[in-house]
Amino acid sequence: MAETWQRAYGRGRMDIPCGVVATLALWPHKSPGAAHAAGLARFLASQPARRWPPTVGQVAAVHYLRRPDLIGAAGPLLRWAEEEHDDDTLYAVKAVAETALKHGVLHHTGSADPSARSEVDLMSWTIVCLRHREDRSWLAEHHTPDDATDVLVSLAIGDQPPASSSLYEPAGGTGGIFRAVAQRLRDHGVDPHAWTWSLQDLDPLAVAGAAVNFLVWDLGPNTTVACGNTLSEGDLTGRALAAQARAEAHRDALLAGANEAAGHLRALRALEVLA
Ligand SMILES: C[S@@+](CC[C@H](N)C(=O)[O-])C[C@H]1O[C@@H](n2cnc3c(N)ncnc32)[C@H](O)[C@@H]1O
Repeated sequence: MAETWQRAYGRGRMDIPCGVVATLALWPHKSPGAAHAAGLARFLASQPARRWPPTVGQVAAVHYLRRPDLIGAAGPLLRWAEEEHDDDTLYAVKAVAETALKHGVLHHTGSADPSARSEVDLMSWTIVCLRHREDRSWLAEHHTPDDATDVLVSLAIGDQPPASSSLYEPAGGTGGIFRAVAQRLRDHGVDPHAWTWSLQDLDPLAVAGAAVNFLVWDLGPNTTVACGNTLSEGDLTGRALAAQARAEAHRDALLAGANEAAGHLRALRALEVLA
């Protein structure tokens, strides 16, 4: 996918290909064993390039209703869809989507079972591969590979994880450690929804990827992500919780306005019928 983006677009704007993968991972329809994945992939691959930006917005809107704060945090991966793009960029977007679909993005993320959707940290692979193509120095970003997080977490948590606890990661990347802990919990009959998950990282794209992952992995209602420098700003979970409350209030106000407008429309139609 990273190769396709660079071939079709060139360097830069890694938010766009990462956002395409995020949109496919967040696709709202899930099915047992991702049985629908092949059919949906054929349908999506046949869509014209100009359909992609509105599709990104529509998929985000579905999740916004439930978790406006996480969709807000995912903004650095999704906001490009609100810009005007030339035909060449849209062609590159479509090419990336086709590559991601061909390589099974919907198989990895399309199962109705959250455990099956949590086998890989897809956003980490996407962000890290693109970043390594942009910056070939050894300073480029690295995340702990999935196999390594599984081993680390099995050593740290053991075979009797608590039914409820919390995990805070001050340099969490896209949340690979969270994925491994959630899988360990599920393997031992513990529901990740009973835990509290707080991730923080300096890199806005990594935090956006973590927000997407948290939705795909279904970590539950007690989840926050925060973007900031842990060394100079400390634990930003309180700030993330305040942002969550503000985002929910804004969503509620939008929904109330939409309901009111729908009520006015219904009344107008009723008057027209009477007239
Ligand atoms: C090696 S990665 C590890 C990510 C994740 N913990 C994992 O195991 O996959 C290090 C992460 O630390 C973040 N980071 C570095 N300095 C930081 C700081 N001062 N505050 C917050 N995050 C920081 C980077 O952006 C990067 O995502």
